[in-house]
Amino acid sequence: MQRIAVVGSINMDYFIESSVLPKVGETVLGENFFLSMGGKGANQAVSAARLGGKVSLFGSLGDDENSEIIAKKLEKENINLANLQYVKESPTGAAFIELCQSENRIIVVPGANNDTDVNYVKNIAQELYKHDVIVFQLETPLSMLEYLVPLLYEQGKTIIVNPAPAQLLKPELIEKITYLTPNEHEYQIVFNTNQPMEELLKQYPNKLIITCGEEGVRFFDGTDITLVPSMKVTPVDTTGAGDTFSGAFAVAIAEGMSLQESIQFGNIAAGLSVTKKGAQTGMPYREDVTQFVNKKEYRDEEKSGHTQAN
Ligand code: RIB
Repeated sequence: MQRIAVVGSINMDYFIESSVLPKVGETVLGENFFLSMGGKGANQAVSAARLGGKVSLFGSLGDDENSEIIAKKLEKENINLANLQYVKESPTGAAFIELCQSENRIIVVPGANNDTDVNYVKNIAQELYKHDVIVFQLETPLSMLEYLVPLLYEQGKTIIVNPAPAQLLKPELIEKITYLTPNEHEYQIVFNTNQPMEELLKQYPNKLIITCGEEGVRFFDGTDITLVPSMKVTPVDTTGAGDTFSGAFAVAIAEGMSLQESIQFGNIAAGLSVTKKGAQTGMPYREDVTQFVNKKEYRDEEKSGHTQAN
């Protein structure tokens, strides 16, 4: 099986649960507070590893207690952490997540993630080249991607970019990305466009994959725009659902599944992940996905063409 490298952010997530969100200047009482591992890079690496991927994580941790706690947790996930850097006098990345009726609002303080930069990737480039599928997000400096993607492209690597949080990407960068996976809001920022989604999809056949929440995922196969529907689930916490999708998608691509099958695999994993609180807590293992697809209800829905995935 092909090897997967995730280059990205690593955070400690601080969750606050409350039934109402405060207005500016207002104080409300919350119901719960908990810590959980996160960061889009770490989340995508965990998702891919739990689903059977051979995964290395490239990124930065800070000079604090969170760094040790996170590294220990990630080691247990069977992820190669040999190339992580530990940044002196910098805090580990932190995300402050307000959870309200299964919806979330997130503020990320990147801390050490800002050091996952061009200098760092110059040092680890040779290790990175040992991998076949390379996965990025945008919680680390964009200049790092702009430096690295052309080099990976020249080497014929499969490059997956989940452009979250959304930033404008240069056309010459997009050209070298194999699969770009914004959601239905992010694509407008990434391409700086007001074009309808369908028009944009048609310009990027088998490359642009737009996740549309409960509806599913759309892509253009060169002939038709296909919607791969999402799973019908009652979400408890959608934090990390997109990351679960990306990690699962990378595994499926690394295993040689078709684009549509890979999206479907990602949808199932993401659907299963939102049934628990915390980004990584609910991420499924391979056997969970296998059990799910072997269920009679799923197979019946598949036959009728009405499978809902997320
Ligand atoms: O995508 C969810 C993640 O976004 C959280 O884990 C948080 O750390 C932020 O990076």
